[in-house]
Amino acid sequence: MQDKILDFLKRKQGYISGEEISHHLKISRQALWKHIHQLKEAGYGITAVPHLGYQLVSSPDRLFASEIMHKLHTKFIGKKVYYFDEVASTMDIAIHLGIKGEPEGTLVVAETQNKGRGRLGRSWSSPKYKGIYLSLILRPKLSPQATSILTLLTAVSICEAVKEIIGLEAKIKWPNDILLGSKKLGGILTELTAETDEVRFVVIGIGLNVNNTKNSLVAGGTSLKEAKGENLNRAELLQEILRRIEYNYATLQEKAKLDIIEKWRSFNTTLGKRVKVICQRHQLEGQAIDIDSDGGLLVRKDSGLTEKIMSGDVVYCR
Ligand code: BTN
Repeated sequence: MQDKILDFLKRKQGYISGEEISHHLKISRQALWKHIHQLKEAGYGITAVPHLGYQLVSSPDRLFASEIMHKLHTKFIGKKVYYFDEVASTMDIAIHLGIKGEPEGTLVVAETQNKGRGRLGRSWSSPKYKGIYLSLILRPKLSPQATSILTLLTAVSICEAVKEIIGLEAKIKWPNDILLGSKKLGGILTELTAETDEVRFVVIGIGLNVNNTKNSLVAGGTSLKEAKGENLNRAELLQEILRRIEYNYATLQEKAKLDIIEKWRSFNTTLGKRVKVICQRHQLEGQAIDIDSDGGLLVRKDSGLTEKIMSGDVVYCR
């Protein structure tokens, strides 16, 4: 009900009488008063003037479901949002929801994670109210081997959204690091649940440093606030990321995988560089020459042989 009240207040400008809201939402004036009180406690600035009614004057910097869903206008991404003040990891919750059969597009968002995880067993620092920490459930018709394209697609969507909303040129380091200059702005973690050769669902995890100040950033990290010098609206950026993912995902479903790869190439900083790639069992050095249609990185070694890497850590040599 509080979401509906907020939606109503946001759509109208100026004061709206309590009578009009109660009538529209079919609740008593007393129930309305209680909800307004709870919204104020959650941080919404709502002024109440006798004979005029209520007016929304400010919204808190929180990624509440209502803030994400208001004017999102996507077809399926973010139609269901699970919001948490604190969790261990949004990935665990999304995986649990995926197993329970929650639909494609379901989103899990948290203000902080006390066990946020990154790739290759690393942790993901998630200071409260500073970043975007989300996990998204997708149910693509892809084989497990083909799902790495989703990581590339998400990286592209983040760069597009950062450009559109913040006006900064974020770049991608293969496979999934989002960079501003040479520093890490965000990362993507893709986990999948599959049965033999069929994907049941994929969870895309996104961690993005938005309003982090220097003291809440890990070494080698940066944030949008550091680059812009001002606090940014996380909800607005998050909405644009979701819109872009939906658009690019539709492109992928239309069998236009090469369009995604082409976009990825335009944002990447890896191709053409001399790289050292640290994989699980071995490491190699050479020239990053391209990515193939599965999203694998092609590295030409000094011997002249080209090796395809599906997962690993890339270090730029010079
Ligand atoms: C990486 O660069 O290693 C990937 C980082 C992914 C972090 C996000 S934050 C939201 C989601 N929940 C997690 O525990 N991890 C991902």
